[in-house]
This record gives sequence, C-alpha cells and structure tokens, in this order.
Amino acid sequence: MYKYIDTVRKKRSRQEHTKDQQRLYEDLAWTWPIISPPEEYKEESERIRKVILKYSQISVKTLLNLGCGGGHVDSVLKKYFAITGVDVSKNMLALAKKLNPEVSYRNGDMRTVKLKEKFDAVLIHDSINYMLTQNDLRAAFRTAHLHLKPGGVLYTFVEEHDKLRQPNVHFSTHKKDNTEITFIEHQYDPNPKDTTYESTFVSLVRRNKKLEIYTDRHLCGIFQLKTWSKILREIGFNVKQLRFKYSKLPKGKAIPELVCLKPAG
Ligand SMILES: C[S@@+](CC[C@H](N)C(=O)[O-])C[C@H]1O[C@@H](n2cnc3c(N)ncnc32)[C@H](O)[C@@H]1O
Repeated sequence: MYKYIDTVRKKRSRQEHTKDQQRLYEDLAWTWPIISPPEEYKEESERIRKVILKYSQISVKTLLNLGCGGGHVDSVLKKYFAITGVDVSKNMLALAKKLNPEVSYRNGDMRTVKLKEKFDAVLIHDSINYMLTQNDLRAAFRTAHLHLKPGGVLYTFVEEHDKLRQPNVHFSTHKKDNTEITFIEHQYDPNPKDTTYESTFVSLVRRNKKLEIYTDRHLCGIFQLKTWSKILREIGFNVKQLRFKYSKLPKGKAIPELVCLKPAG
C-alpha cells in the first residue's frame, strides 16, 4: 500500500516539475471561456438542480460548489441558489468573479478547505477528476460532508471509471472575436492498474491569424465505480446512483451520477 502511495506521489511530483502542467487553470485560464463557453452549461446545470431538489430532505437555498473553476455552472445555478464557490486556482476564480459578481468565491483546496458556514447542498462537478488517490477522494467527500447541513445532498458525477477507453482523442474549434482556438484532448492510461491517467491538451491558438501552440499535461484520477460509493458510505452518506443521459454523449451512453444524502439526526 505504502509503495503504491509512493508511486503516485512520485508521479505527481514528476508532473509538478514539468512546465506544461495544468496550464488551463494558470496562464491559459483565459482560454477556458472560449473553449468551454458558459452558454453550454445549461442542460447539465438544470439537471443538477433538478436532482438536488428531488433528493434533498431540506429546502435548498444555499449551495457550495467545490472546484468551481470559471463559474460556468454557477452562471446557471445562481438563478436558483445563493452560491459559494471554492477553487485552488486564483486565475480561474478571477474568471468566475467576473462572470458572477454576485457569487461568493474563496481560494482553497477541496481536500482541506474549512469554511465557517454550512450549506443546504454541495456540488463537486468535473473538478473531482483531479482526485488522484482514494485518500484524495475521501478528503474531498469529507469536506463536502463537513459543510453540508443534515438532510442536505452532495451531488457529484463520474466521468471516467474502471477502465479508460484509449487512446481517447477529441478536438473542437472555437472562435471569439479575433481569436480562434482548436483544442485537442488526448487521454491515455499508461498503467491501468493504478488510479491515474494522463489527459493531455494541445491548443492551437490563432490570434489575428498568427499561430501559437501550447501543450498542457493533466494527471487525473480513475477508480472503480464501486470504490466511489464505498468511500461515500464510509463517510456517512446514503448514496443513490443515477444515470444522466446528457445530449452530448453518444446514443445509449449515460454518466453515472452520485446523489449523497447526509442523513438528518
Ligand atoms: C474543468 S475546471 C472546472 C470548471 C467548472 N465546472 C466551471 O463551471 O467552470 C476544473 C477545476 O478544478 C480545480 N481543481 C483541481 N483540483 C482542485 C482541488 N484540489 N481543490 C479545488 N479545486 C481544484 C481547478 O483549479 C479547475 O478550476
């Protein structure tokens, strides 16, 4: 076990020493609203709201979004809830604040952050992909549990689990004013026996027709679906698994969603 944790640590620190790591949330954060515009978040955000309202045992007025990124989900959910967003990246928080001046944003790591308030609901959206070990997942879910009122729910979902389909490559082109970005995503798992995989982004940016090329490496977590539920139950949640048939997914595919109730009393 310790040998395994050591390997993950070494892998993570090797990544930390490359210059092109997690640039999307640092010097390339400005590209986020172009490659993934807030307008595209309506369907999934409305779904999140619907599920939270259906399964919560308390009335939902406040929501904590752990790993809120550029605040694109918040831009939809702020119509319904008073939101507090937490993210580890200051550049992403700057984007979120600009998009949603009415939302309260804090800088922090979802594994360790401690706020004074408790919330009616907690959301961990795609940022959960950055939990690389079971201990990371456990710490993030503990944070959610700690900040949730009894009778409230944590909503999270699982983009990748069990075995990665690989190599998995997508690309898309986006334009805003004089900037055109072709964003290429490549997912690859060099060792399917451990809990991480590589997600590598290449951005071809044309500003006023001049080409710039950026490479960006992300290390993401992958676990068996049953591991997610096991950890959530250990922490004290009652877990219900649903399936979200998101319109952007291939026909017949659905994303596993986890609705986690913190029992009252
Ligand atoms: C894809 S972005 C989230 C985008 C977001 N769903 C939105 O609506 O704009 C992933 C985010 O996870 C954040 N993140 C990664 N690890 C984190 C951690 N340990 N604690 C808090 N945020 C984290 C990154 O800084 C990044 O902003």
